[in-house]
Amino acid sequence: MQITLETKVLAAVESDALVTYVFEDGEPQGGLAELDHAAAGLLNRLIKGGEVTGKTLEMTLLHAPVGLKAARLLLVGAGKRDAFNSATLRKLGGAALRYLKARSVHGFVFAMRENGANEEAAQALVEGLITADFETDKYKTDKKNDKFIEKVAIAGYGEAQKGAGEKGIARGRIVAEAQNFARDLVNEPSNKLTPKILAGKAEAMAKEAGLSVEVLDEKRIADLKMGALLSVAQGSVEPPRMIVITYTPAHPAPGGPVVGLVGKAVTFDTGGISIKPADGMEKMKYDMAGGATMIGAMRALAALKPTVKVICVVPATENMPGGRAQKPGDIQTAMSGKTIEVLNTDAEGRLILADAVHYAKQLGATHLVDAATLTGAIVVALANVNVGVFGNDQAWTDKLLASAKAAGEKMWQLPMDDEYREFIKGSFADIQNIGSGKGGGSITGAWFIREFAGDTPWIHLDIAGTAWNDDSKAWLAKGPTGVSLRTLVHLVTSL
Ligand code: BES
Ligand code: ZN
Ligand code: ZN
Repeated sequence: MQITLETKVLAAVESDALVTYVFEDGEPQGGLAELDHAAAGLLNRLIKGGEVTGKTLEMTLLHAPVGLKAARLLLVGAGKRDAFNSATLRKLGGAALRYLKARSVHGFVFAMRENGANEEAAQALVEGLITADFETDKYKTDKKNDKFIEKVAIAGYGEAQKGAGEKGIARGRIVAEAQNFARDLVNEPSNKLTPKILAGKAEAMAKEAGLSVEVLDEKRIADLKMGALLSVAQGSVEPPRMIVITYTPAHPAPGGPVVGLVGKAVTFDTGGISIKPADGMEKMKYDMAGGATMIGAMRALAALKPTVKVICVVPATENMPGGRAQKPGDIQTAMSGKTIEVLNTDAEGRLILADAVHYAKQLGATHLVDAATLTGAIVVALANVNVGVFGNDQAWTDKLLASAKAAGEKMWQLPMDDEYREFIKGSFADIQNIGSGKGGGSITGAWFIREFAGDTPWIHLDIAGTAWNDDSKAWLAKGPTGVSLRTLVHLVTSL
């Protein structure tokens, strides 16, 4: 999809469709007034008549609008003017694209409204457009070939704002294409994305992006004594991989942080011997979304070139109930030397993250973030709305929360009181992999990982509720969301 800036006045724009947005304002104002004037008061009449209210994501499509050169005019509701921000723009840009694509329109001009033509807005809009254009029909043979958007132009950027607009477009494209790259990995079913295949794709991406990459095979993993990762992998005939991708800045800030991005990549989670119910188990192909997010984030960072070093560590494995699978009660020794009593083989994400977090520290990470589809309990707590955030260092966590806000991703911090630590104290080993208390399942999961982060500033993102959309949204296809990638990219580039 080609995305450019359009400098013509709106009435003179020749396009399949002209798109703009309407606030719950009453009369047309600013750019909308100009358009209304050209269209002989058409917009004013629609608003006065109550047909166009400006309610969020309300769609009004007009054909052959009088006074305009465009073949169609699409008015998208933008809600209250006061509440409008780049997150709204991202969504409504995406919703407009999906609305027009479904109607076999191939190109449109999106008119940014008054005072909105800056770099941040261009970036958000482009992120909305490119992520909205992503479909999960890769394996369908009857794809509708007439439904595609070829080009979009963004109007509203005059000579003075052109530089900002172009910068925003470029940045938005880098971030959104990385997000779609991650979503594409998550969309792959487990027979087409084994740990080995995931590692191969990560390697290919890294080489193309100019990042250094190392993939540890099962032998190296064993040599390094990653007993927690191996314990999960031993139930499968597919061998595990530990994927390590490193970005080194050309001119690193002396004494600056080294960020470790750690992502859970269980390419399929059956639960192991503590097997999951059949109903809905097919969704467990997305249990590698944390890893995909981190690999995708590295792709964007390679292009954006932050000044800090970043080490991405992704443990990849299946969780299967094979003849060699670990069993409840088994005691494993993690790479750090800590012993773990595995009371439930379905709490496998924290096991593989234990070794990955330890390894990231050993490789030099001074600040950690992990992302994982870790617990069903996070869906109970936050539904599919917010990412669960946990941390051991409030200053580091606050930085991430600020980045989440800037990137338009909803995240909510949960408590990590010492009392919850008691829940995972082991009876027969140092710790156990599930809590013995009632409730707090996402917190005890986070505490388990924290045990391996130690004093290193660390954040855990539980994306089990948010990495996959069961239904499509007006601005996003059903399926993988790529959530938290934008936040992480913002975090690292703002350090
Ligand atoms: N991969 C699951 C968590 C999950 C659940 C992801 C729903 C996406 C949607 C994880 O490995 C798991 O099974 N967790 C268990 C932990 C429990 C045994 C303590 C869970 O949440 O039930
Ligand atoms: Zn599990
Ligand atoms: Zn899992």
